[in-house]
Amino acid sequence: MVDDYQPAQTHALDRDCTTLSRHVLQQLQSFGPEAQDLSALMSRIALAGKLIARRLSRSGLVEDALGFTGRTNVQGEEVKKMDVFANDVFISVFQQSGLVCRLASEEMEKPYYIPENCPIGRYTLLYDPIDGSSNVDINLNVGSIFAIRRQTGEDLDQAASDLLQNGHEQLAAGYILYGPTTVLVYSLGRGVHSFTLDPSLGEFILAAENIRMPEHGPNYSVNEGNFWQWEESIRDYIRYVHRHEGYSLRYSGALVGDFHRILMQGGVFLYPGTVKKPEGKLRLLYESAPLAFLMEQAGGRASTGTERLLDVVPGELHQRTPLIIGSSEDVELVESFIQERIREQTDLVAPGR
Ligand code: AHG
Ligand code: MN
Ligand code: MN
Repeated sequence: MVDDYQPAQTHALDRDCTTLSRHVLQQLQSFGPEAQDLSALMSRIALAGKLIARRLSRSGLVEDALGFTGRTNVQGEEVKKMDVFANDVFISVFQQSGLVCRLASEEMEKPYYIPENCPIGRYTLLYDPIDGSSNVDINLNVGSIFAIRRQTGEDLDQAASDLLQNGHEQLAAGYILYGPTTVLVYSLGRGVHSFTLDPSLGEFILAAENIRMPEHGPNYSVNEGNFWQWEESIRDYIRYVHRHEGYSLRYSGALVGDFHRILMQGGVFLYPGTVKKPEGKLRLLYESAPLAFLMEQAGGRASTGTERLLDVVPGELHQRTPLIIGSSEDVELVESFIQERIREQTDLVAPGR
């Protein structure tokens, strides 16, 4: 009898049906308009990830995929062809979507408006289209980072001042890691979840739910080539690590890959400021803040060294911040070295205080 039919509910079939868009709706426990919006937004981001993964997988075989464009971006960095391709992919997937009024990325000096989506699409997408682009030409891992924020102002004049808010304002954040498999990790502020792209289905399938960080881990991830450019406090921390057993240095030069290892295994990633560039290299709105959002959701910690990273209010769209992120005990240890130096300097200026 048809009425009595019960699906066999095989484990494999159920797993394959836990797609990203279904997961978003489950997370929000709603089919309301905001839940539908976020589900559709995540599906578009996933489509961007699939298009970029496809391009990367053929990059040695097709024309004009690798190498530099000859241009520099607003950060003064040389732009690669893959940066431009991936930047355009995100714009393209949100055209005529009714979802996003504005996109802001590392590769564009000002936000890109999609007027036909405004004011219906009251969201902004912030993104780093290709993170770790120095890895592209040597066939190593790269990623994309994204955050979704609500568009609060009526600002359509490209000033985007309503974006200059702290990281708690992120509705969702995540990244896509283009490695041996393509992995998407995201959070809506209700835990951190990872998905693996099944190319035969063209779907991201749930891999791990509610990922939790250990309080301490063995990995430290930092560009030690900058050792003599750092403040003494960071050198003190690295000397501490060198003198203690149980640490492994792991650094790929692509934040998404290095962050993913820390999230999966524990430890700490650092991109501190240098004496000449105290703000460091990484950009707050589309690199550090999205990853800080994920890290806190997984029970870890993210800091500038002196401030909780999610509390930082940027002064401009492309603002940089130092980033210390990972297992809570490991981040606290780095902070303790920074605090120690600050205390010493204060004592030097005002002894006995
Ligand atoms: P992007 O490719 O988006 O400009 O980002 C590069 C970043 C980040 O991925 C990585 O952690 C860092 O630059 C590496 O910098 P160093 O080469 O100075 O170590
Ligand atoms: Mn980057
Ligand atoms: Mn980039």
